[in-house]
Amino acid sequence: MSNSLTELQQKISALRDELDQHNYAYYVLDDPKVPDAEYDRLFQELKAIEADHPELITPDSPTQRVGAIPLSAFETVQHQVPMLSLDNAFSDEDLRDFDKRVKDRLKSNVDIEYACEPKLDGLAISLIYRNGVLERGATRGDGQNGEDITQNVRTIGTVPLKLRGNGYPEVLEVRGEIYMPKDGFEKLNQQARLDGSKVFVNPRNAAAGSLRMLDSRITAKRPLELCAYSVGLVEGGDMATTHTEVLQQLNGWGFKINKHMATAKSIEECLSYHQKLGELRDGLAYDIDGIVFKVNDLELQRELGFVSRAPRWAIAYKFPAQEQVTKLVDVEFQVGRTGAVTPVARLEPVFVGGVTVSNATLHNRDEIERLGVRVGDSVVIRRAGDVIPQVVSVVLERRPEDAREIVFPDDCPVCGSPVETVAGEAVARCTGGLTCQAQRKEAIKHYASRKAMDIEGLGDKLVEQLVDEQLIDSVVDLYSLDLEAVSNLERMGQKSAQNLLDGIENSKQTTLPRFIYALGIREVGEATARTLAQSLGSLEAIAAADTEQLQTINDVGPVVAHFIHEWFCRAEHQQLVEALKEAGVSWENLAVKEVAELPLAGQTYVVTGTLERFSRDEAKAFLQELGAKVAGSVSKKTQCVVTGPGAGSKLTKAQELGVEVIDEQAFVDLLRGFGINV
Ligand code: IVH
Repeated sequence: MSNSLTELQQKISALRDELDQHNYAYYVLDDPKVPDAEYDRLFQELKAIEADHPELITPDSPTQRVGAIPLSAFETVQHQVPMLSLDNAFSDEDLRDFDKRVKDRLKSNVDIEYACEPKLDGLAISLIYRNGVLERGATRGDGQNGEDITQNVRTIGTVPLKLRGNGYPEVLEVRGEIYMPKDGFEKLNQQARLDGSKVFVNPRNAAAGSLRMLDSRITAKRPLELCAYSVGLVEGGDMATTHTEVLQQLNGWGFKINKHMATAKSIEECLSYHQKLGELRDGLAYDIDGIVFKVNDLELQRELGFVSRAPRWAIAYKFPAQEQVTKLVDVEFQVGRTGAVTPVARLEPVFVGGVTVSNATLHNRDEIERLGVRVGDSVVIRRAGDVIPQVVSVVLERRPEDAREIVFPDDCPVCGSPVETVAGEAVARCTGGLTCQAQRKEAIKHYASRKAMDIEGLGDKLVEQLVDEQLIDSVVDLYSLDLEAVSNLERMGQKSAQNLLDGIENSKQTTLPRFIYALGIREVGEATARTLAQSLGSLEAIAAADTEQLQTINDVGPVVAHFIHEWFCRAEHQQLVEALKEAGVSWENLAVKEVAELPLAGQTYVVTGTLERFSRDEAKAFLQELGAKVAGSVSKKTQCVVTGPGAGSKLTKAQELGVEVIDEQAFVDLLRGFGINV
């Protein structure tokens, strides 16, 4: 029996409402109510009905977010209410001056209430809703005229196609910022590097590029979001009387607004808000470049009015810029512990992201080629958060005539051995192994480090000194250091020298996992070292294991198995281990338990957020010790998710799927319950 048209229409309408509801919960409330799979099922159902009855498709259907036929150009549209920009403040003094101007103009001597919002680093957008349905989306353009990018904005999940609830004006223009969250940006660029397609300089450029696609099907695949921050044109209805209330109204009609929004009772409160958000900045999921302060009372806003292109009632107090231009003075090639040769840019010092930067990584040969950078060039440096500074682009217009091409060395700059690049790998490596002084130094630093042999008093600088002064050549030599020779080192002295020798002596009694980690086998981190030790029990057993046997161990794949096997096959490594044992390094072997006998055997755990007592790796190692598998993402197969503060999407996913979630204390109790002393 075929459904009557009205029945179908009702069904469609119910599906659309339900999908809109889920969309709102997911994007605006950050609180999804159903698993992704359920959303997909409803979506497919609606799509199937619409495919059979194209006449029932309406532009506000949730299926209409996937992009449309490419355009040949964007049309120009006029903004009925101009889209203004903001004046900037760069210091506390600038902000106090702004407050004074506001008060002077209002002839007021009482404190002004300000709305405080992060200034998102994306693109301004105007969205016109007529009778609650999205009619047009446009860029800011020059403020008077922008481009019609309706097709593109429709693909963005946080842009309501239809307003929720009621009470909205007949015509409502919502303004806000479209931006790309940091993690989406990183993923997009990672993929672009693999595909050899365009790599974006920063999230803002990525958002701009994605929004200006003539083919909206591409925009649909980009992780863009909208945050509403004001209204423009309003006809046939009234809005609230303060800025913050207006934003609450928009939120109720389905728009995402910023979580950190607040009101301040005075300019001094604005200053502390700026300070506080400055501290949160690096940890936010999106880039912000300052704080916007707006007089909260809309009547006062009207009274204050505008000067040229900026309102008198608002100001953007900027944070230190995360990008700056400086000069690339030279490129040096550093050799790491595993021989990786990394080009490092030496820069004219520049203040960026709150610190002075004079070095930045250039990653590898491919990156130098991609950037097309030369010595002498003006380059854009980006330092966002505590990520190491990056060279993101070259200002070609400023290239001097004598700019010099960067030649990647064929031979190691330290030991002269050939530099090799394995096919399919971006990294070039010095083939000198431990004959290379750079690799030796790094190997010794690693051996002495806290998570390895934990030799107290032996820091990186001292290792450099000891190798440079030829007092040691390898880690074995540490055990025959001469007190006299050490105390003659610059900035040393009898007492510190004795402390160093004591530190070395005390570290001799170690544990098997520490010792394995200290050996510095490629890809064998702390957690893998621990699993190896627990699974095989002794160094002899690990050394004797072939790659097949190694791969049966939790977390050890073919690549790691190969590195481990190869390491123990080499005669010089076997001699090294023997020499260390002879020098007195010792540990106890571990009792090997079959994985199947372990209490958490067969269970998969996920650790997310920041734990206070352990690093993520430590937590992982404990779980593996109990036989659990530790995965990077949550699925139906996950037994339990261990969460700390800052847990995000993994926690949400676990809740969606009904997977057990425990906090740090419960995790500690769990470990103690199995006899692990933490
Ligand atoms: S209000 C008349 N609020 O900053 C005031 N702008 O230079 C108009 N922006 O083009 C803007 N976050 O793209 C406002 N919370 C926020 C903002 C914000 C980012 C951008 C916006 C605008 C530019 C002003």
